[in-house]
Amino acid sequence: MIELKNVCVEAGGQKILDHLNLKLSEKRIAIIGANGSGKSTFVRLLNGLRLPTSGEVLVDSLDSRKYGKDIRRKVGFVFQNPDNQIVMPVVEEDLAFGLKNIGVEKAEIARRIDYVLDRFNLQAARLQSVQSLSGGQRQLVALCGVIVMEPEIIVFDEPTTQLDLSNKRKMTETIFGLSQQVIVVSHDLDMLKNFDRVIVIDHGRVVHDDIPEKSISYYEEAMA
Ligand SMILES: Nc1ncnc2c1ncn2[C@@H]1O[C@H](COP(=O)(O)OP(=O)(O)OP(=O)(O)O)[C@@H](O)[C@H]1O
Ligand SMILES: [Mg+2]
Repeated sequence: MIELKNVCVEAGGQKILDHLNLKLSEKRIAIIGANGSGKSTFVRLLNGLRLPTSGEVLVDSLDSRKYGKDIRRKVGFVFQNPDNQIVMPVVEEDLAFGLKNIGVEKAEIARRIDYVLDRFNLQAARLQSVQSLSGGQRQLVALCGVIVMEPEIIVFDEPTTQLDLSNKRKMTETIFGLSQQVIVVSHDLDMLKNFDRVIVIDHGRVVHDDIPEKSISYYEEAMA
């Protein structure tokens, strides 16, 4: 479980996150809020991509200041833009990259890659160059690159913003089909209806934290 204790983040002389105290235990949690409210900063804390200025982020009781590497094994992060995530030119090589880095053996790498390509209908793209894929396919490859690492928790920062309606639906189904806990930043309120919990952030503070129906109507009224 991820826990935030009195977390503040400051940058450029301003408070970006202000005394957050949260226990994130539900299977599907969403973060919503206006542009610039601090959502991306918040989720980057969850796998140690960013460290708090004060307070603590604990993942299974491990402090992100000391155990960043272990935490990144437990918590996978899918970026908004897949091009920030995909590092190798060919799909198969990209999916193998992180696994090679942590010393997973060849047969196991092949097994995991086969599994995700089957699961996401990407076998035909296995030897294709990443550049030749559509935006939706690239987003899926980026997610596959996280799934092969077998994290316990997957964080998504706006996974559907670049996708058309059909791919948006596919990505939403994919997120619901994951066995891992998911924490998702999204402006796509429709997608969040069946989540377990929706946290509303405003000016770096949690201003509402409830079931989707209640949090979403709070947010819609606040934005009106
Ligand atoms: N390193 C930094 N230095 C200065 N300001 C920063 C830094 N990182 C983030 N900020 C500021 O913190 C605020 C929150 O940024 P953040 O990216 O977390 O917002 P967001 O809620 O994800 O917005 P969006 O919906 O547009 O993605 C913004 O005003 C941003 O400019
Ligand atoms: Mg953001």
